[in-house]
Amino acid sequence: MVDYSELMSELDELYKNTPKHVDGGILGSMTTWPHRIGVEAFLRFIHVNGNDPFTFRAVAECESKLVREVGALFNAEVGLHTSGGTESNILAVFAARKAAKGETVIAPSTVHKSVDKACDLMNCKLLKIPTHPLKPVDLKTLEEYVLKYKPFLVIITAGTTETGVVDPVEEASELAEKHGFLLHVDAAYGGLLIPFLRKHGLIKTELKMSSGVTSITVDMHKNGMAPIPSSLLFFNNEELKEKVCFDMDYMPSGKSCGLLGTRPGGAVVAAYYTWRAIGLNGYEENALRMMRIAHLLHSELKQITGIEVYPFNLPIITFKSRRYSSDLLLNKLAERKLYLYKAPSLNALRVVIMPHHREEHLYALIKALRELHQL
Ligand SMILES: Cc1ncc(COP(=O)(O)O)c(C=O)c1O
Repeated sequence: MVDYSELMSELDELYKNTPKHVDGGILGSMTTWPHRIGVEAFLRFIHVNGNDPFTFRAVAECESKLVREVGALFNAEVGLHTSGGTESNILAVFAARKAAKGETVIAPSTVHKSVDKACDLMNCKLLKIPTHPLKPVDLKTLEEYVLKYKPFLVIITAGTTETGVVDPVEEASELAEKHGFLLHVDAAYGGLLIPFLRKHGLIKTELKMSSGVTSITVDMHKNGMAPIPSSLLFFNNEELKEKVCFDMDYMPSGKSCGLLGTRPGGAVVAAYYTWRAIGLNGYEENALRMMRIAHLLHSELKQITGIEVYPFNLPIITFKSRRYSSDLLLNKLAERKLYLYKAPSLNALRVVIMPHHREEHLYALIKALRELHQL
């Protein structure tokens, strides 16, 4: 006989020993403590297969409202819910390849690794434009690469993973129109920050489905505060979206869009109700608060002798120690339950300020870094 209470106490122990965002130690991950409405929605719809919008109409309804309402921020009308930035980017490459039938994808070297994964899976050639990790892609070089290598797809990033740099969306879109390549914008991280920060003049780039842009990734489980797994992939037309839909004749709806089969329908409902609960004002407040905290951390780190801190655009603070290698410092901080990620292109570490962070969460890190760099 299974002892249910024994399993429950084992589970409690496992949970107790797992880091939680609300404790403030998770400082490198682009994940956050999901909004409570999202958690509630997920739990209520935990039994629901997101691949069956016929039986579970709530999923189809929430997905289309989510696409319409979030898409309005980016002038996008067509899209689908996916499991995350990786799936969205893989599908974007897949759709573009089917539509344009090319071999070569071009992206700045700052592009997320999911694009390497996508090209590996689809056997396409990924050419990376060497790009400084703290700078957007150079447009002249991009045009030279396009003319020389004739890609079917160019991928740029609105909020790079390591340093939060925003590539020039509007200008790349003009190049796409001029030279006839498809353009995917990976805004998995920056999508729910950039429109709000731009409103306050803190970011110049306008992130939208302008005429040269073919697809945009926006993650709901990052700055959207929806429970994992949750991303949106927007296309500039229905035809392109249909490229990621497959025949599934035994299902009542007859088709399945995206990479997964059976999938958590609760995640779609949760993403929609999280979006509603936070609202545009809430996302704007979050974005401004995250930038304030980033500035605070940046100026505190600048004052620590032995630390070099880099400039930032979005709330990702990268820094390097003159005393410890990145790996050693990463481990020393993890021993203090401070979990950072790496910025390999700078041989540095990074802190990603997420919506759950409050100023006090950063003090433990600042204190630890001061102690570790004391003479
Ligand atoms: C710019 C960017 N794109 C894509 C991804 C992949 O997202 P996910 O981990 O949700 O698959 C990330 C993750 O950090 C990212 O920063």
